[in-house]
Amino acid sequence: MDEAKWKKRLEQYPAIADLEARARRRIPHVAWEYLAMGTGDDRALARNREKLADITFLPRLLREPLEPDMRTTLLGQTFNAPFGVAPVGLTGLMWPRAEQILAQTAVKYHIPYCLSTVATQTPETIGPLAGDVGWFQLYPPRETAVRTDLLRRAWDSGFKTMLVTADVPGPSRRERASRAGMRMPPRITPSLIWQGMQRPAWSMATLREGLPSLKTMEKYAQSGETAELASFVRQKIGGTLSWDYLREVRDQWPGRLLLKGLLHPADAEEAVAVGVDGIVVSNHGARQFDGAPAAIEALPAIVAQVRGRTHILFDSGVRSGLDIMRALALGAEFVLMGRPFMFGVAAFGDDGGDHAAEILLADLKTNMIQCGFATLADIRLA
Ligand code: GLV
Repeated sequence: MDEAKWKKRLEQYPAIADLEARARRRIPHVAWEYLAMGTGDDRALARNREKLADITFLPRLLREPLEPDMRTTLLGQTFNAPFGVAPVGLTGLMWPRAEQILAQTAVKYHIPYCLSTVATQTPETIGPLAGDVGWFQLYPPRETAVRTDLLRRAWDSGFKTMLVTADVPGPSRRERASRAGMRMPPRITPSLIWQGMQRPAWSMATLREGLPSLKTMEKYAQSGETAELASFVRQKIGGTLSWDYLREVRDQWPGRLLLKGLLHPADAEEAVAVGVDGIVVSNHGARQFDGAPAAIEALPAIVAQVRGRTHILFDSGVRSGLDIMRALALGAEFVLMGRPFMFGVAAFGDDGGDHAAEILLADLKTNMIQCGFATLADIRLA
């Protein structure tokens, strides 16, 4: 796309909310519901947003013109910004090849891209594209042989940072997906055809790629089981994580290890004892437990408990550079976002990941200037 057109598009869609609105118009209802939903009454989903929005800063002024430095070093790697792309399941349902698009965005902006175990592309496909900014998310497989194989595949594909998900002790009810007729694996039903007819760009792209499937896990299904891959995956990876299990992963994985989804300071303490390299304070984007606090409410107590003994990352509800600044002000070192990048891809396909990154970078920089922060280390509430 030429420079002028790109600039115009960024001006016309200046916020993640604009990408969200366009994404909603471009993808089938069922894909939209899967992406946007929480669980229960979506109260935790709203809470994540509201509690972030309530955090304010007391700006310091008269600090000369600022050109904020947004670079940061995490786990021995320097990134251009303190944020990355969070793992998202069933990515290809929202937009075919979303993983490739986002891995390329991550490389271009030099930020991490985390591929999910239940993404619709394999580590073998995405690893070489993501290069040294690729992270892999692990839903812990029950069988040691499957786990060993998955860890080996991720490592051999170039992923050196493993993010283990803790916050799915079992499936959540996800009523919105259920009402929308979500089926796993996605099937061509009259409802999907009807929804697809109203979303021609998505349908064309999906016809080219085929319906999405959980490609990474397919290998472990016996023939005949594939049709039942969803229940197979649930069986293989549901609710298996324990501290002993995590210790085994720690021993087995030669790279950097992050644990995602903690809200309780006591769990953070255990994670430090296991020797993880970092934890991600998160409520899984409010998709698991509607009674959870906003993830941002849980952050300060974990920061206080950990006292610098491990790295602290944050996700859940972040939609802007200002939100990133809020999480950093409360003690996170790094922020992950799933939906904002997926809104970008669903809104604009190949250019959508870059578009989301541009918004977040511009918004973070602008807000750092408003408060007089020259570096990320300067960020504080007052
Ligand atoms: C997968 O991790 C999901 O939250 O849908």
